[in-house]
Amino acid sequence: MSKNSQVEENEGAKPICEALKRFKRSRLVFEPSLGVLGFFLVGVCLVWSFFYFDYRSVAKSYGLSDKSERFVWLKLDNNNNNSNSSSSSSKRVGFLEEGGNDCDVYDGDWVWDESYPLYQSKDCRFLDEGFRCSEYGRSDLFYTQWRWQPRHCNLPRFDAKLMLEKLRDKRLVFVGDSIGRNQWESLLCLLSSAVKNESLVYEVNGSPITKHKGFLVFKFEEYNCTVEYYRSPFLVPQSRPPAGSPEKVKTTLKLETMDWTSSKWRDADVLVFNTGHWWNYGKTIRTGCYFQKGNKVKWKMNVDVAYKLAMNTVVKWIQSEVDSNKTQVFFRTFAPVHFRGGDWRTGGTCHMETLPEIGTSLVSSETWEQLKILEDVLSHYSNRSETVKMKLLNITSMAAQRKDGHPSLYYLGPLGPAPLHRQDCSHWCLPGVPDTWNELLYALFMKQEASYSSGRVEEANIIGNVTMS
Ligand SMILES: *[C@@H]1O[C@H](CO)[C@@H](O)[C@H](O)[C@H]1NC(C)=O
Ligand SMILES: *[C@@H]1O[C@H](CO)[C@@H](O)[C@H](O)[C@H]1NC(C)=O
Ligand SMILES: *[C@@H]1O[C@H](CO)[C@@H](O)[C@H](O)[C@H]1NC(C)=O
Ligand SMILES: *[C@@H]1O[C@H](CO)[C@@H](O)[C@H](O)[C@H]1NC(C)=O
Ligand SMILES: *[C@@H]1O[C@H](CO)[C@@H](O)[C@H](O)[C@H]1NC(C)=O
Ligand SMILES: *[C@@H]1O[C@H](CO)[C@@H](O)[C@H](O)[C@H]1NC(C)=O
Ligand SMILES: *[C@@H]1O[C@H](CO)[C@@H](O)[C@H](O)[C@H]1NC(C)=O
Ligand SMILES: *[C@@H]1O[C@H](CO)[C@@H](O)[C@H](O)[C@H]1NC(C)=O
Repeated sequence: MSKNSQVEENEGAKPICEALKRFKRSRLVFEPSLGVLGFFLVGVCLVWSFFYFDYRSVAKSYGLSDKSERFVWLKLDNNNNNSNSSSSSSKRVGFLEEGGNDCDVYDGDWVWDESYPLYQSKDCRFLDEGFRCSEYGRSDLFYTQWRWQPRHCNLPRFDAKLMLEKLRDKRLVFVGDSIGRNQWESLLCLLSSAVKNESLVYEVNGSPITKHKGFLVFKFEEYNCTVEYYRSPFLVPQSRPPAGSPEKVKTTLKLETMDWTSSKWRDADVLVFNTGHWWNYGKTIRTGCYFQKGNKVKWKMNVDVAYKLAMNTVVKWIQSEVDSNKTQVFFRTFAPVHFRGGDWRTGGTCHMETLPEIGTSLVSSETWEQLKILEDVLSHYSNRSETVKMKLLNITSMAAQRKDGHPSLYYLGPLGPAPLHRQDCSHWCLPGVPDTWNELLYALFMKQEASYSSGRVEEANIIGNVTMS
């Protein structure tokens, strides 16, 4: 599985040294690489002008047939206005319409869309500084303007007000690692754009978002709803080893138990799980964290087997503990990292990436292996024709194309870029790729709500008729 993950490592590495030291350090890093930087800037200018001029000319002649080759490649799609145009997307059915039921929303392309991003990071109070790339020195902004376009249907545009209405009196809970928090913060920004009075959105315990906490609960007061995040990088508990274990065992992962906090969110109305970046040797056995089954430490168990057992525990828990009449359960699949020339410890980089990798997938075989294990676990249930109560947010492939979406050097805050050899190519800039996962979550949530409410109407009718007769 992914050897490269730095997820949550950065959280311990917040800049604590004073400004002077930082300044000296960054100069040391950047002096030898001025050439590289210059080249990078020239490159950005070139690419920018390429987009700018080409887009203008296409926009003018829109509807005519002389679209440039380059924009065929980019799959320019100017149909976000629902205007009738020659673009093929106007012929696609809306995902929320009846004909959209069978649409595979994960099969599609990234298209350039000038109506994006959906918000600006400076307008959102809920972002960790690690995700505020454009505010902290990232100057290319293309990465904020790609929209996900499914091949066979159109996604609804994210409507924060409507989503909040549907979430009235409800709880939406993210459980997972810091990539899950990345998505959670994106959703806070998307939703809060519909609330004009800032004091009506707050953390219920007054905890600041940048401080690493076990959980954070944001309330949207006008809607009496909460959007919550519980940190649980493995989804199963990591705790003290059994008595009498050798000293090298610092902790164990109890593979047959759901995370201890599960009682707090079992009854939420929407649950969004994710895990993956911690299921590797470096974050488990190397740090003295071994796997435990029953009361036994399993010395020889490898990470893949442990991951499978844990996923089995998670799915079994969902099947038996979650009331599917009340709770919608989603599992967001692994979001690939994009280190080049190393991993997060050995100087891997992604800061030169300004464009997606259209049409190809850079997913490593390790990542596919992890997805396959999860699908295996799920097929165990569907083979016995049990309804699996969990929907996959199957974003691995689409995220794999977005090597341009990571904070790279721009995660440290106002003091300047990070050193070149210490890049973040695991998390995602916001606004950015996780917004798309939330647009998909929105679409699936709305679809389910529609079917629930039609079901409820029928139920109410039946009850009503019975009462009257
Ligand atoms: C969207 O449509 C409106 C009216 O139909 C038009 O005025 C506007 O320019 C369009 N916007 C874009 C981005 O095409
Ligand atoms: C788009 O085309 C359809 C059918 O061709 C028509 O009914 C609809 O009014 C058109 N919409 C706009 C915004 O022009
Ligand atoms: C707010 O929502 C909770 C459920 O999350 C519910 O128990 C409570 O009664 C609601 N409060 C109000 C004032 O409606
Ligand atoms: C915002 O909400 C708070 C709390 O309800 C209220 O005291 C304040 O007057 C509101 N501000 C505005 C500008 O409406
Ligand atoms: C869910 O609702 C259906 C139909 O209303 C009902 O038959 C079923 O028992 C409910 N399931 C649970 C777990 O409450
Ligand atoms: C489920 O069925 C498929 C196809 O019949 C098979 O390939 C797969 O191994 C089965 N999975 C399990 C867990 O039994
Ligand atoms: C998830 O997406 C991948 C690639 O897009 C696909 O191969 C796989 O079958 C999908 N899995 C599910 C369960 O839909
Ligand atoms: C309930 O009554 C309404 C109105 O009289 C009627 O349209 C509906 O079919 C009835 N439903 C059932 C399940 O009998």
